[in-house]
Amino acid sequence: MFKNRLETSYKRHLINLAVLISGRGSNMDAILSAIKSGRIRNANPCIVISNKPGTPGLKIASEKYGIDTKVIPSDGLKGWHYDQILVTTLHEHGVTPKSGLVCLAGFMRIISPEFVRQYRMRIMNIHPALLPAFPGLNAQKQALDYGVKISGCTVHFVDEGVDSGPVILQKAVPVTEGDNEESLSARILEQEHKLYPEAVRLFCEERIKIVGRRVSII
Ligand code: GRF
Repeated sequence: MFKNRLETSYKRHLINLAVLISGRGSNMDAILSAIKSGRIRNANPCIVISNKPGTPGLKIASEKYGIDTKVIPSDGLKGWHYDQILVTTLHEHGVTPKSGLVCLAGFMRIISPEFVRQYRMRIMNIHPALLPAFPGLNAQKQALDYGVKISGCTVHFVDEGVDSGPVILQKAVPVTEGDNEESLSARILEQEHKLYPEAVRLFCEERIKIVGRRVSII
């Protein structure tokens, strides 16, 4: 009975999804694969956008999943000058602040406050460390240099700061004696590929509740 009611509501609230990438696209691949296999049931992947042409992620999106892709080159455009082109593209593909979700997956640009305000709590990011530790670039190297024994990955909502928005899910990954940046990054990435689809699934099932900075899974 309960299951049927949920399934009906999933059909009603299909989330239009955009994934923004800059390179490899392995997290994007993990999310799209979870949708394709039915693990995420009520997401509609609409567009994959890259700020760099010819990235491997674009090929995966179009050839493996048949999803529309678009390159919006940075071309020296900063902040809202770039993001307004992004927002127009999102709207053109049905990814609106009302019905959409934007997943940053290795998107190497800082999002402008104007974009964040329009899509508040509808932009997610994945970061390869346990935030608030080691925000910004080279998080795995930062963790190794600091000498922590545990690092990991975080999926969070994007706010106006850098890697500072409300935390949705985290997964710890132990740092081992012989670790270097490459080995630690690979073990964290393995967890990222499970964590990010899980966060998207929870969002699409409307199971994420946000009060202040605290995110509860209901
Ligand atoms: C991942 O490590 C992610 O945590 C970080 O950028 C990397 C992107 O990798 N934000 P991929 O393009 O998803 O393979």
